[in-house]
Amino acid sequence: MSDGPASGPGNALGLYVHWPYCARICPYCDFNVYRPKGDDEALLAAMLADMAHWRARTGARPLASLHFGGGTPSLMTPQQLAAVIGEAGRLWGFAGGAEIGLEANPKDIDGFAGMAAAGINRLSLGVQSFDDQALVSLGRDHDASLARRAIDAAQRDFARVSLDMIYARAGQTADDWAAELGEALASGVGHISPYQLTIEPGTAFGKRAGRGEQLDAPPDFAADLYELTESLCAAAGFEGYEISNHARGRADESVHNRLYWEGGDWIGIGPGAHGRIGRASAGGRAATEAARRPADYIRRVTETGTGIASEEALGVADEIAERILMGMRLADGLDIDHLHATTGSGIDPDGLARMMRQGMVDQAGSRIRLTAAGRLLADGVSGELVP
Ligand SMILES: C[S@@+](CC[C@H](N)C(=O)[O-])C[C@H]1O[C@@H](n2cnc3c(N)ncnc32)[C@H](O)[C@@H]1O
Ligand code: SF4
Repeated sequence: MSDGPASGPGNALGLYVHWPYCARICPYCDFNVYRPKGDDEALLAAMLADMAHWRARTGARPLASLHFGGGTPSLMTPQQLAAVIGEAGRLWGFAGGAEIGLEANPKDIDGFAGMAAAGINRLSLGVQSFDDQALVSLGRDHDASLARRAIDAAQRDFARVSLDMIYARAGQTADDWAAELGEALASGVGHISPYQLTIEPGTAFGKRAGRGEQLDAPPDFAADLYELTESLCAAAGFEGYEISNHARGRADESVHNRLYWEGGDWIGIGPGAHGRIGRASAGGRAATEAARRPADYIRRVTETGTGIASEEALGVADEIAERILMGMRLADGLDIDHLHATTGSGIDPDGLARMMRQGMVDQAGSRIRLTAAGRLLADGVSGELVP
């Protein structure tokens, strides 16, 4: 493997592996997560079988990225990680500089060296905050001092490290956030994902908010904090290459996420994992979703050979809508000539003219992108471009 990350959408293929278990379920989280059920080995065996099924479908295409997400994949043993990585290499092989990433909880610090030895080359750490009181409010099972030790250990064990942070919490001041983000930016890592706290229906926070409790910042103040985030990151040399993602340079960006944003193909393995494969204009693009509950996923793989529970054929219009909504999240925007060349169609010209008049979108050559004002209303603005 070469040193730099593999890049570009083209024929690149990504593999997402969802590990659904968490030691504790955080009250804000609406991902497909469960407390451990003691069926790890059955789940691993099902994932490996599902991968073989997918290989028959994709044919030979080297992987640009393999991403372990969750849930908490840092709960997987090095042997389990090595089994998945080894099988991915055997079935597809890795492109030069392929990214093999994993989302880790700081609490799993003692496993970092084993994860690196198993083949993980990029770690994203769920730090969330450097404020102990905030970490308690967020229901986290680690404090700031453990997060700091985990950041140092991660930088010893992995070439590329990213930090997840959550801001716009109730009661958090601009100075509080500036101090937390400043610490993350000065920690030496090359990538930071600051997420605005979202209150999701069905979560513990969603229920408490429904009873009138204020858990997040008011929208106007959250927008101020977003702008503060952009300016502090830029001042520290981190480019906001995507709405919630900042990197020191191109080599620090997430190859796997770029593949999503650029409309690439990826396979989803594990409970509830989504996949996208093919081009609508070239015989069909499929949107797949695996069975969500771990026991259902294992049963489905045992009975049918794959964990896929639902599959939808995306038409050209669906593919274009996804490519616009995802592509416009990137700072370098969307190449409308490339969109046209690969789908046979494109964006809504009236919508583009309207958004440009309102100062939400600008254009340079064949690329269109959100302005600073447009980024604050990203999904709404991008939605106007969908034909
Ligand atoms: C799969 S988790 C990361 C790994 C690990 N499970 C952990 O929490 O440490 C993905 C990230 O999504 C973010 N996240 C999850 N739910 C969120 C919410 N409701 N609002 C904002 N960020 C959220 C958190 O920053 C979290 O680290
Ligand atoms: S934030 Fe991470 S640890 Fe917490 S429940 Fe969600 S996936 Fe699990």
